[in-house]
Amino acid sequence: TATLGDLAERTGRYFGSAVDNPELADTDYADLLGTEFDSTTPGNGMKWYATEPQRGVFDFTAGDEIVRYAKAHGLKLRGHTLLWHSQLPGWLTSGTWTADELRAILKNHITQVVKHYRGKVFAWDVANEIMNEDGTYRENLFYTTLGPGYIADALRWARAADPKVKLYLNDYNVEGTGAKSDAYYTLIKQLKADRVPVDGFGMQAHLALQYGFPYQMEQNIQRFADLGLDVAITELDIRMILPYDATKLAQQADWYRQVTEACLAVRRCVGITLWGYSDGHSWIPSTFPGQGAALPWDENLRRKPAYDAIRSAL
Ligand code: XIL
Repeated sequence: TATLGDLAERTGRYFGSAVDNPELADTDYADLLGTEFDSTTPGNGMKWYATEPQRGVFDFTAGDEIVRYAKAHGLKLRGHTLLWHSQLPGWLTSGTWTADELRAILKNHITQVVKHYRGKVFAWDVANEIMNEDGTYRENLFYTTLGPGYIADALRWARAADPKVKLYLNDYNVEGTGAKSDAYYTLIKQLKADRVPVDGFGMQAHLALQYGFPYQMEQNIQRFADLGLDVAITELDIRMILPYDATKLAQQADWYRQVTEACLAVRRCVGITLWGYSDGHSWIPSTFPGQGAALPWDENLRRKPAYDAIRSAL
């Protein structure tokens, strides 16, 4: 019987799940991921703290392990992420840098990491979470030292290091229309006008039942596609306040269906990635205490109503 990956491929898309390195030791989990899905993203293995733990000293061990896993199971691989305010190495956050120094550090990081994974990842989340909810730039280390031009620079350096990989901006709370997604729309339009290489927009889609479904998701995906971009749902999970019950799981299933349908309605929506696929390996309970049950499989790798909802929508 067809897997989610198979079903997605019938419309030229992929259906993936993130995987974090320690999870590879859970062989039931890793085996099911490798068969049910056709794409993956390292949950942490390619982040700056992992890839450049000391200045100029690169460590690709964790990322390479995911590359080998993906290859062994025939999975496509998304690179995540070159530039983010979180999970930076201590040497970088504790240092005081002039603009010239930080620019050189960022350029070298992007160049080395993108070159190392050239031909191994089909896309990179070049810049992750660079906007605030109100649509202003997030005041991360790079913004405060380099100003907003760091985004175009990062995209150009990534392109120089790999002429073929798809270059994405990626964020949460951008699935629907609103101030934050408007800001990305404006930024990407400007980047395109300036001939800055940008190929895709990633919508993380860390949704929560208690906050309501994103406003006009399909129209929002469509407007980014109309800029000539690929759009991807990059980190989908749908959490709820615990304990869960049948009503919440049914609502969750309906939301998974709606997200899948919104992507399939737009030709340039290229694929969907879950941020892990089972409640047993999810970042939600530790990050949002009292919340969880966010994924289509439970902690015993049993399918939840969300699984059938995705299946029927694909
Ligand atoms: C999360 C990982 O899943 C956790 O293991 C880690 O402790 C923190 O980061 N947005 C992102 C992802 O872009 O990189 C984050 O991943 C989840 C939120």
